Amino acid sequence: MDVGADLKNETTKMPIHIAFIIDGNGRWAKKRGLQRSVGHKAGFNRLKKVIRRCFELGIKYVSIYAFSTENWNRPKAEIDGLINIFKKYFDSKSFIANYPDTKVNIMGDYSVFPQDLVDTADDLVARTKQNDKFILNIGVNYGGKDELVRAVNNIIADGLTKVDRNVIDRYLYTAGQPEPDFIIRTSGEQRLSNFMLWQCAYSELYFPKVLWPDFDNKELQKALEVYSKRVRRFGSIKEENTNETEVNI
Ligand code: IPE
Ligand code: IPE
Ligand code: MG
Repeated sequence: MDVGADLKNETTKMPIHIAFIIDGNGRWAKKRGLQRSVGHKAGFNRLKKVIRRCFELGIKYVSIYAFSTENWNRPKAEIDGLINIFKKYFDSKSFIANYPDTKVNIMGDYSVFPQDLVDTADDLVARTKQNDKFILNIGVNYGGKDELVRAVNNIIADGLTKVDRNVIDRYLYTAGQPEPDFIIRTSGEQRLSNFMLWQCAYSELYFPKVLWPDFDNKELQKALEVYSKRVRRFGSIKEENTNETEVNI
């Protein structure tokens, strides 16, 4: 049975915004006696399929954590390998063929990458900015703490002297978007590693053991089934318990 198709009809139980912390590429390669960069390549091939499947299922917002502000601590060769992968991935021709109707929103200061990658990313953002059917947020040189620091500095630069939650929302990379309903981190690690720290306040978290390059449609369906069974309360209580009367205690 195609569980995905089934879930699609239960729109209230499907996330509107799903986020992925793609983890385990290195371990996937190591298990096969391959270089970490080969794991990243397999990871990005997987990424294309997972994002497409999410959009097919009608999930409008997808966020990806591809490179953190802390990933600069990795060996240069691995970083260079990732940069090469990003260059290919962001190439607008193949990207638009892969994900038509999709707007790309890059989270993170990508101006620090080599100029050819910056140009490729700028071109992709410009060519997709009119689209609004699907939104793809990609975190490169992204960190939740840096995002908040940037927001505060921009708020100061704009001369605001008082903020509320809505103001902060407007200064994040995800301005105007709903917060992620569901955050999936593969490879069994149970942490956020500086990802969407403001936006994750009420996200459902899921940590499957599968390594990212093995996260296939079946794993996605399993994850969506888990999500559909979660009870989200947002600090409230379930309705059947609300007929309580005041008791003197
Ligand atoms: C995640 O896979 C991908 C990126 C950080 C770009 P890792 O490279 O962290 O893989 P592991 O955790 O070492 O297995
Ligand atoms: C988190 O993965 C960053 C990305 C997925 C881009 P890491 O593998 O870098 O995280 P830690 O170091 O295990 O926390
Ligand atoms: Mg990792």
